[in-house]
Amino acid sequence: MNKLTYLCFLLLLIVPIKSEDREFPKEFEIFEDIEEWEVEEDAGDEYDELLESPSRRRGHRNKILVSVDAFGAVGDGVSDDTQAFVNAWTQACSSPTKSVFLVPEGKRYLVNATRFRGPCANKIVIQIQGTIVAPSEPKDWDPKNPRTWLDFYNISKAIFQGNGVIDGSGSKWWAESCKKNKSNPCKGAPTALTIDSSSAVRVKGLTIQNSQQMNFVISRSDSVRVTGVKVSSPGDSPNTDGIHITGSTNVVLQNCKIGTGDDCISIVNASSSIKMKNIFCGPGHGISIGSLGKDNSTGIVEQVVLDNALIRGTTNGLRIKTWQGGSGHVRAVRYQDVRMDNVSNPIIIDQFYCDSPTTCKNQTSAVEISQIMYRNITGTSKTQKAMKFACSDTVPCTHIVLNNINLQSLDGTVETYCNSAAGFGYGYVQPSAECLTSSDKDTTIIEEKETGSYHQNLNEHIIHTEL
Ligand SMILES: *[C@@H]1O[C@H](CO)[C@@H](O)[C@H](O)[C@H]1NC(C)=O
Ligand SMILES: *[C@@H]1O[C@H](CO)[C@@H](O)[C@H](O)[C@H]1NC(C)=O
Ligand SMILES: *[C@@H]1O[C@H](CO)[C@@H](O)[C@H](O)[C@H]1NC(C)=O
Ligand SMILES: *[C@@H]1O[C@H](CO)[C@@H](O)[C@H](O)[C@H]1NC(C)=O
Ligand SMILES: *[C@@H]1O[C@H](CO)[C@@H](O)[C@H](O)[C@H]1NC(C)=O
Ligand SMILES: *[C@@H]1O[C@H](CO)[C@@H](O)[C@H](O)[C@H]1NC(C)=O
Ligand SMILES: *[C@@H]1O[C@H](CO)[C@@H](O)[C@H](O)[C@H]1NC(C)=O
Ligand SMILES: *[C@@H]1O[C@H](CO)[C@@H](O)[C@H](O)[C@H]1NC(C)=O
Repeated sequence: MNKLTYLCFLLLLIVPIKSEDREFPKEFEIFEDIEEWEVEEDAGDEYDELLESPSRRRGHRNKILVSVDAFGAVGDGVSDDTQAFVNAWTQACSSPTKSVFLVPEGKRYLVNATRFRGPCANKIVIQIQGTIVAPSEPKDWDPKNPRTWLDFYNISKAIFQGNGVIDGSGSKWWAESCKKNKSNPCKGAPTALTIDSSSAVRVKGLTIQNSQQMNFVISRSDSVRVTGVKVSSPGDSPNTDGIHITGSTNVVLQNCKIGTGDDCISIVNASSSIKMKNIFCGPGHGISIGSLGKDNSTGIVEQVVLDNALIRGTTNGLRIKTWQGGSGHVRAVRYQDVRMDNVSNPIIIDQFYCDSPTTCKNQTSAVEISQIMYRNITGTSKTQKAMKFACSDTVPCTHIVLNNINLQSLDGTVETYCNSAAGFGYGYVQPSAECLTSSDKDTTIIEEKETGSYHQNLNEHIIHTEL
């Protein structure tokens, strides 16, 4: 992947300016960094080479291969291989030369909740060829790690790769969820794979499945690139988000196929510069920003781009969800080239989100939503409200822009719902978005492309630049 490719799919500038005032608007600044953004390059291929030529292993003085088998892992799916993984990690991570932590193919390794702690002394590749399975019995779970299974903490310059599988064996956890059976207590369950407080991490080609709760969490991290990852949990498994991003910046998700029982992707507080490209989502609850603002908290998410996705059979498509009473903002989001197939709520902003057993009261405070662009979104809606902009009465959504939208009903008609939402559509917009209030209007659209630039006189000043 070269840098140009990343630049290409990213450049998002939606900049509202007053007609008489053409100086550099304040809103422009937040779009600037997105152009400069770059995940550190890695040297993954040399490790592939090392793995493919075992005869050279010994000769490679500057790299070591540390297999969990060398530390006594059995890989029969029954024996407890936790200690072997811990010992192999300790050796690989402390190696002064580059190292490969190898989980060999063709075996199933049973591993308990484990924190793989960094920093490592040098670059490390976590090569997963076989399957890692979690113990399936919730009551035997280590109470010291209630919310994580495989937890990689404070690592940098690491590559996770291989054709292997991380399997949370979650079915008993799901049965114990209060979402499955209301007489169960509501409590959290582990995340299968966590990358926490880390930087310059790349994840390629792995499969993560049947997690106890969320499948893959990227938290408090910077510069994480996830490509070709598959996430798979049943459509009725509770709270099994596919990829969850929290407190992280500069994250790229590319060529990922996600089917699960909750959000395919969820992006929550303190996350920015998040790019998603070529995403398949379904089953699941769609691609979400939020929820944000629960229990009067502050939530901030900005600079999010989704480019090219197929969303199939999900309960939501492109969703922004916030609780009443929150604060903070969601700003500068661009969704483009998305195909919906039999999706409920294909486009939805829900500022009355309430995922709690008790009802939520309307409040005056809300997470502020602005500069949200939807472009080239087509396909079929399972719900009559194909577009729903349910915004806070006291903190309206602003600068919602729709361009080239074609959402049709599977049987009947579709419509747009608006509450307290300002913005406009241009080009073809079906269903019509006339319910958006026009406080943003009286402007022009200036669109620049690499092929040149053209100006379109609409009622709005929006500069939209693409490289
Ligand atoms: C994380 O790693 C950095 C070095 O990369 C180190 O300085 C820091 O102390 C580590 N933090 C913790 C909490 O272990
Ligand atoms: C893994 O968990 C099981 C069940 O709690 C426990 O008996 C075993 O000692 C744990 N293994 C290690 C290496 O801690
Ligand atoms: C729900 O849980 C209760 C108590 O654990 C149990 O008795 C009941 O059979 C469960 N219901 C279903 C539908 O699984
Ligand atoms: C959101 O992130 C900010 C910045 O990291 C933090 O101060 C705040 O406590 C976070 N809010 C929640 C609900 O975690
Ligand atoms: C949130 O703020 C509202 C209004 O001030 C208050 O009534 C409510 O109790 C607060 N909720 C929480 C969970 O703090
Ligand atoms: C619209 O999006 C689809 C993918 O959903 C893509 O195949 C198509 O090329 C896009 N059209 C334009 C004009 O960008
Ligand atoms: C749409 O999805 C529903 C399940 O939610 C399914 O029963 C139905 O067959 C699907 N329709 C089409 C046209 O794919
Ligand atoms: C909250 O406000 C929205 C928008 O005005 C309204 O549709 C909804 O019924 C209100 N909910 C409650 C619980 O009052």
